[in-house]
Amino acid sequence: MSYKLAVIGGGSLYTLPLLHTLCQKKEVFPLNRVYLYDIDEKRQFLRYQAAEVMFNEIYPECEIKVAQTLDEAVKDVDYILVQIRTGGLDMREADEKIPLKHGCIGQETCGAGGLMYGMRSIADTLEIVDAARKYSKDSWIINFGNPASMLAEATRRYYRDDKRLVYLCDMTILMLDAFESALNLKKGELVPRYFGLNHFGWFNNIYDSTGKDRMPEIIKKLTSENVVPDELKNDSDWVATFKRLGKMLKDLGGYIPSTYFEYYFYMNEIVKESNPDYTRANSVKDKKQAGVEKMCQQIIENNTIKGSGLDSKVHGEYIFDFIEATLHPKRNTQFLIPVVNDGAIPNIDRDAIVEIPCIVTFSGVEKLYFGEVDIFYKGMIENQYACERLCVDGVLENNLKKCVQGFALNRTITDVSIVKPLLYDLLQANKQYLPELWEKAWQLLD
Ligand code: G6P
Ligand code: MN
Repeated sequence: MSYKLAVIGGGSLYTLPLLHTLCQKKEVFPLNRVYLYDIDEKRQFLRYQAAEVMFNEIYPECEIKVAQTLDEAVKDVDYILVQIRTGGLDMREADEKIPLKHGCIGQETCGAGGLMYGMRSIADTLEIVDAARKYSKDSWIINFGNPASMLAEATRRYYRDDKRLVYLCDMTILMLDAFESALNLKKGELVPRYFGLNHFGWFNNIYDSTGKDRMPEIIKKLTSENVVPDELKNDSDWVATFKRLGKMLKDLGGYIPSTYFEYYFYMNEIVKESNPDYTRANSVKDKKQAGVEKMCQQIIENNTIKGSGLDSKVHGEYIFDFIEATLHPKRNTQFLIPVVNDGAIPNIDRDAIVEIPCIVTFSGVEKLYFGEVDIFYKGMIENQYACERLCVDGVLENNLKKCVQGFALNRTITDVSIVKPLLYDLLQANKQYLPELWEKAWQLLD
């Protein structure tokens, strides 16, 4: 048995390390064809050329091709990996800079910019899932799009019972990596319990392979030293983010929060530290993107991946681990996945997309019952859920009022007088993606 796979968003910064991981794992997950598809052909072509060198060199059994259309890419395939960024890094820059102008957090998946990123990405996500289901009805669709909860909320309306449509996020894996290296454990050893929304959840137990709960030790480490995943040790932005985990635990106690809570809890400090003219998007362009492009060029020029520094990353490893769990009817493995709640957390809305432990098997994702959550977490989760849901409703129903209400509910927009001017500016920047809402945006000006 060998498989066919498509990567939608083939021009992504993650494409080459992801394909590298798949090459490394060919014994377990044999592929015979990989299709790349991206609307930015130029960006993708560079990755494709480098990937072609790599496949010729270490994976000649597998054909790698550029698909001309989305339909062609997703036709008759077994796995569809979606890693699109609607609007690219330029729109990420807008998502980060516009809120900062209004004194709010400027972040790609949190706050006003994150909401707008989600709103802008709904149409593309639905288009991809529709095509995937039309042309490969049993395929696995593994979506790394962001903000994952909002996109899952949008597809929930049409694909609620689709057990092979899954949204994955590597943040919890990166956090566990950091905890494992702080405790000198091997990668993948810790088994967590975790609940919440995507980029908005908490670890409430973290067991090692002997069954001991290591949470207390991890909390001690987090509050006394720098605990950072190996992959992010040289990235000063992420090092600062991980540092704030300790601060959150000191200030609030309780469970270990997702790193993303820093934006909801320390908004003033972070806004003050932010440079409105140079945000994370700029640093990703200048460092990460430039690095990937240089590496691709080097691989193409030298006609080998040797000496290029190309290595597998958490993103690709995680996708592979997930795929591995889906391959054999007998194997099943636990993952933290955003899924429709349906009573897994009985005191949270049934429709909410909650990130909780799930079992992944050959036939699909099966969520585990989690149990009720305490009132602090319930309050936080319901507020954020209502905020995201209203923004998704706003887009799908072309209802500006719901978007205003959604923005007003977000913890990073603390003064409601900011909502209308901020939403106006964001819609203006996004008019090509949300033309119907933009047509109504003048109503925000009065
Ligand atoms: C983590 C999150 C992703 C997010 C990424 C941003 O991996 O899980 O959802 O997109 O961080 O990282 P960057 O280096 O692009 O700022
Ligand atoms: Mn994520």
